[in-house]
Amino acid sequence: MTPTTNRSVFLDHGEASHQRCAACGTTVPELDPAPDCTSCGGLREIVHGPPVDAFGVPLRGAALRASFAEHCCARPLGSPSGVWRFGSLVMPSAGNAIVSHPEGNTPLLHRSAIDRFVGMEGLRIKHEGHNPTGSFKDRGMTVGVTQAVRIGASAVACASTGNTSAALASYAAQAGIPGLVFVPAGKIALGKMAQTLGYGARTLLVRGDFDVCLRLVQEASRELGIYLLNSINPWRIEGQKTIVFELLQQLGWDVPDFLVLPAGNLGNTAAFGKALREAHALGLIARVPRLVSVQAAGAAPFARSFGEQFATRYRVEAETIATAIRIGDPASWDRAVRAIQETNGLVLACSDEEIIAAKCAIDAAGVGCEPASAASVAGVRTLVADGTIRAGDRVVAVLTGHILKDPGMLVDLHQRSDFAHANPPIEIEADIGAVDRIMRLGRAH
Ligand code: F0G
Repeated sequence: MTPTTNRSVFLDHGEASHQRCAACGTTVPELDPAPDCTSCGGLREIVHGPPVDAFGVPLRGAALRASFAEHCCARPLGSPSGVWRFGSLVMPSAGNAIVSHPEGNTPLLHRSAIDRFVGMEGLRIKHEGHNPTGSFKDRGMTVGVTQAVRIGASAVACASTGNTSAALASYAAQAGIPGLVFVPAGKIALGKMAQTLGYGARTLLVRGDFDVCLRLVQEASRELGIYLLNSINPWRIEGQKTIVFELLQQLGWDVPDFLVLPAGNLGNTAAFGKALREAHALGLIARVPRLVSVQAAGAAPFARSFGEQFATRYRVEAETIATAIRIGDPASWDRAVRAIQETNGLVLACSDEEIIAAKCAIDAAGVGCEPASAASVAGVRTLVADGTIRAGDRVVAVLTGHILKDPGMLVDLHQRSDFAHANPPIEIEADIGAVDRIMRLGRAH
């Protein structure tokens, strides 16, 4: 781990958590509702005191690992949430304000068919699509909406490519707080739209892309006092850190060599970087994996900048079939740069064709994911092919969303005559002879 600032990762023992601007260092109390730094406009991060045991004694290393194991599942002491199990590193003062489904506790899978596709053995798949609303966003949203309850927010809002809006709508409904979402008109997947409407958030179809939606919701939050729950909100990042804590725990705290994830607005890249920094500082792990963020080639300003040692911050007009990561001006840029630099990480861009090929391999293995999620597996395949990932390396790829998030894209794809893996439905007469003829055709693909 190579620190890029000399600010401490944790506060002194006994100090209460607070918010700190990552750019200018200004601190504000935990319950300050502003979405970003009112001194310089930079993004805030949460800093905590070291985690402590029931007697207030700081916990590190093996003792802290044991305390997480104790809190696993719903036994008398434990939490049924894979986020709140790590509450001492997320929001130690949450008390009984917590709004939880519960969420997290997602599986770490291994499938030989996916190994064959990427060309390596033992790839582990952390499937965040198994969260209650079908994406990793639930981990940030349980914390964000809990904070909304703590500050007495009158309404919560976000801009979204669809998953954040589904998660916000669900958790806001549970908390009884009105939700408002801004999504790019005509550009969000059907499953996400259906969820957002069903859970009851007021849904605005904005004539513009995600980046336009984000600017508008920031303005709405400033002018109208609505609590902003995009991933620029530092509490969202605290929740998303638990993807990393949980997968490390599932690996027995045996650190992988590479940790690969899809990237759009870069909130998750930032969250992974913060989780690894903290896990390292607390002695939970002795070294960190190389973090690999994978963008879609049509929405890859961060990958381009990485190629130039991050000398320039780029903004692009984004276009990709992976609508979740169709983002041209990522908000968490600086904190994601820090995550990549501190972990000797990498940023890649994969074409839509590569992403679809990976998605088809994941789907056909019976695992399934939404298109953006498959960027991680496409990225692993690229790194195996160019020799960066070598035989024996231990790799975890994160799938961020469920296959049912984007049913429209899938049904269209499988009915396309130019798609090699097409598996079109076949209409038949209600007649056993017709079934017999189809059976003789063999497997779909
Ligand atoms: N994968 C999925 C399925 C997503 O929905 C997103 C982001 C990402 C990856 C990228 O994560 O933005 O933190 O780099 N979705 C946001 C949304 C933008 O509005 O649902 P990121």
